Amino acid sequence: MSTETTTHKPVMPEELIGGLCVRREGNYVDATLGRGGHSSLLLYRLAGEGKLIMFDRDPQAIAAANQRFGADPRCLVRHSRLSELQASLAELGLHQVTGIMMDLGVSSPQLDQPERGFSFMHDGPLDMRMDPTHGQSAADWLQQADEAEIRKVLFAYAEERRASAIARAIVKRRELKPLRSTAELAQLVSDCLGAAARKSKKHPATRTFQAIRIFINDELQELRSGLQQALQLLEPGGRLAVLAFHSLEDRIVKRAFNDVAKPAAGNRRLPQLETPPLAYRIVGKWLPSADEIKTNPRSRSAVLRIIEFRGEGAT
Ligand SMILES: C[S@@+](CC[C@H](N)C(=O)[O-])C[C@H]1O[C@@H](n2cnc3c(N)ncnc32)[C@H](O)[C@@H]1O
Repeated sequence: MSTETTTHKPVMPEELIGGLCVRREGNYVDATLGRGGHSSLLLYRLAGEGKLIMFDRDPQAIAAANQRFGADPRCLVRHSRLSELQASLAELGLHQVTGIMMDLGVSSPQLDQPERGFSFMHDGPLDMRMDPTHGQSAADWLQQADEAEIRKVLFAYAEERRASAIARAIVKRRELKPLRSTAELAQLVSDCLGAAARKSKKHPATRTFQAIRIFINDELQELRSGLQQALQLLEPGGRLAVLAFHSLEDRIVKRAFNDVAKPAAGNRRLPQLETPPLAYRIVGKWLPSADEIKTNPRSRSAVLRIIEFRGEGAT
């Protein structure tokens, strides 16, 4: 394992932490801890009686957090996934919390360590698992998936227009020799997409890598499950803040928030029944400023959404 050379610069830190309206003695959850950038900012606002429970599915993030936050009595660090939110909190005796944050996708250290296999910029084993102790690596999946399955993943998770050609090339190539490294996959996609794609500002393999990563880590299902559980876990006045980095993620967040915070549209031609006030309120949506995008290019596609649980029967 290489020593870490990059840190992760938190995205929209003021908007996210400010938007949570941190209560000094509250119980908070960072459900996607990463390198603890947002967590450390939240801790500045937490009194000695407050708690911050930190989760990540990546064992490396957990090891780094144990070193950084392990001695702080306000902090609890646990290896856990978004889809295990309620169960992991229940194990700690918590059934309601004051606030939850989720900062989706991969962290800079994950992207920058060649041996994690996330990036076409660094050659390494084609792995892409956020938790390398679980599930199938990208290389193993690409070795046994059928062509139609690969095409569907590339199209569904990255809208790759050349999904069929790439899937065909992958299957043809593996008949000769398995695809084992990120550089081999990046080269294959680049060759397949041709000269025009190579002239574009984006690396031709950007979309292929994104799609395979989302699939291998079951990211969208994890998000749906995590959001449903987080909404149930908020105490009255509690807030959930979510940072999404592409339209597939943001669409899921927006829908989950609208489902609980917007009244179902009735038939405008019929008399309307009085409906009880909704238990949730959408606090807002934020995009990064031009200045932030300049200093932290990773923020460029970010969308922050925050929702508040007003309490059942709120008026
Ligand atoms: C963008 S980084 C978070 C960065 C963090 N906010 C910071 O400031 O350092 C996303 C983190 O979420 C983790 N992650 C992604 N999906 C997850 C899931 N379903 N369950 C738990 N952790 C997840 C990744 O392993 C990664 O460490």
